[in-house]
Amino acid sequence: MTADAKPHVSPQQAGPALVIDSLDVRYGQARAVNGASVTVPAGKVIGIVGPNGAGKSSLLKAVSALVPVTAGRIQFDGQSLTGLSPRAVAELGIAHVPEGRRIFAKMTVYDNLLMGAYLLPVARRNDLLDRVFTAFPRLKERLKQPAGSMSGGEQQMVAIGRALMGNPRLIMADEVSQGLAPIVVQEVYRQLSRIAADGVGVLLVEQNARLAFQLASYIYVMEQGRVATEGLAAELAQSEHVRNAYLGLD
Ligand SMILES: Nc1ncnc2c1ncn2[C@@H]1O[C@H](COP(=O)(O)OP(=O)(O)OP(=O)(O)O)[C@@H](O)[C@H]1O
Ligand SMILES: [Mg+2]
Repeated sequence: MTADAKPHVSPQQAGPALVIDSLDVRYGQARAVNGASVTVPAGKVIGIVGPNGAGKSSLLKAVSALVPVTAGRIQFDGQSLTGLSPRAVAELGIAHVPEGRRIFAKMTVYDNLLMGAYLLPVARRNDLLDRVFTAFPRLKERLKQPAGSMSGGEQQMVAIGRALMGNPRLIMADEVSQGLAPIVVQEVYRQLSRIAADGVGVLLVEQNARLAFQLASYIYVMEQGRVATEGLAAELAQSEHVRNAYLGLD
């Protein structure tokens, strides 16, 4: 932690927090994540920035049980995620918007969105769809289109909408700004910020650090699998290393 970093979780914090403690992820001999600790309180946007290969996506995949945890602990709402399947993690209310979106290009927008609700009763679908349309009205107009025929920004909206369809308590979003026009990034970011204001924790992974600093209240900088530094975004933005290496400022 930097000298001026303050704890960003108060004991009175309402709602479920994600707590990642001393996480290791290895691929064979290669250490992708090396003792990283990250906390995401309910209702906050927390950012992880860092260069290519720093282990950002691997950390998210470990939370989603898509890769095994080699060491360390992950808890959500006080419950350990150790040994849970990806489905069981999703059932706890953790949604993952993966890097590269991974939507089904040949399926319609509607069918892509419904995939996100597969764990919920059919009766809930319409409410959740309405919530997605409120966030991204364009999707309502394009429901019957194949998702692959839409612009990159709209496809990203489908990916986030699919995550919202699971009625999540935590959303992990991996490089959502990648390849999007700046105006679309702002639109997507505005919605992520609204989602957090509704009490959902948002863990935002961004190679584009400037964007992460704009949205997140607290930032972790990952380098070579470790949390190199962390702090309140406003304070960390003053750090010389962060300014030079990530924000392109001197
Ligand atoms: N399936 C895999 N098998 C082997 N090594 C992997 C695998 N996935 C990732 N790695 C390696 O683990 C390290 C961390 O990768 P990861 O994708 O988590 O980084 P990242 O911070 O998300 O990078 P980027 O910004 O490029 O998305 C890298 O060295 C990468 O090459
Ligand atoms: Mg990545």
